[in-house]
Amino acid sequence: MATLAKTDQDYSVLPHMPDDVFTAPLKRPEHVGEDWLEPAQTVYDGDDDAIWNDLFARQMEVLPGRAATAFLKGLERLDLSRGGVPEFARLSAELEPMTGWSVVPVPMLIPDHVFFWHLANRRFPAGNFIRTRETFDYIQEPDVFHDVFGHVPMLTDPVYADYMYEYGKAGWNAMRYNRLKALGALYWYTVEFGLIEEADGIKAYGAGILSGPTEAVFAVEAESPNRIMLNVDRVMRTDYVISDLQPTYFVIESFEDLYRQTVERDFERLYRNLPPSFTYANSAIIDVDNLVHRGTQEYLLRGGRGSGAAPV
Ligand SMILES: [Fe+2]
Repeated sequence: MATLAKTDQDYSVLPHMPDDVFTAPLKRPEHVGEDWLEPAQTVYDGDDDAIWNDLFARQMEVLPGRAATAFLKGLERLDLSRGGVPEFARLSAELEPMTGWSVVPVPMLIPDHVFFWHLANRRFPAGNFIRTRETFDYIQEPDVFHDVFGHVPMLTDPVYADYMYEYGKAGWNAMRYNRLKALGALYWYTVEFGLIEEADGIKAYGAGILSGPTEAVFAVEAESPNRIMLNVDRVMRTDYVISDLQPTYFVIESFEDLYRQTVERDFERLYRNLPPSFTYANSAIIDVDNLVHRGTQEYLLRGGRGSGAAPV
């Protein structure tokens, strides 16, 4: 069966990217090579560590009861509360026996094909900088707090860790079909903004939710957003916003279910049938949806970010 990722590709070295694949044009800084890896992690000073500690403390006020059990367990297992920006070498040494992952520093957002290649080698690229006091509440470029606090704890979960690894390989396959946009929507609605059903209610496992105080409450509890059970075909046809709270979140039953729905399905067939652009608006509810909560969209209707609308 053709599955999410082609298995015959060798990922031990960065594969050649086909010339006809379009990815965002990013200018590579001179001090990094083709792998976009920094020669060393930044040495952070006391002010940087204080920013990390304040961000950490702010999240811990809202995450208990709202973050997925796997995430909270991961925070503990990696001892992320010990204070200061964590050293990637220590995180990698601790992750290795758990799931085989490591954390590597990159200067900025890196090109898709390089990002996928690192994931396919169980390396998680994380920003080599931290936000400032001026950009404490919101930065668009993912920094070390978003990347390490938001993403890395989930890599302690074996099934989720395998999903991320398969996703990397899937990226290379999607490029061959020119379906990066569709696969990007899947990443967005799972890895960044995913929710999971737990025995005592819906919790967040997406890093975009977990690394910000407003969205952690909004995604799980607010009346505005739709919450819909994840359906991979549907998600890959759905547009998304990158600069505001999400109008819709997708909910998984378990990480095993996420793995089954994605890794074990015939993506080649799906890619052949997908239109090149998105079919559904990010606030739409459609016939096939298994709806958990029909959102009022009040926040969006009142103007969203910058309008002063309350995230209710
Ligand atoms: Fe992220």
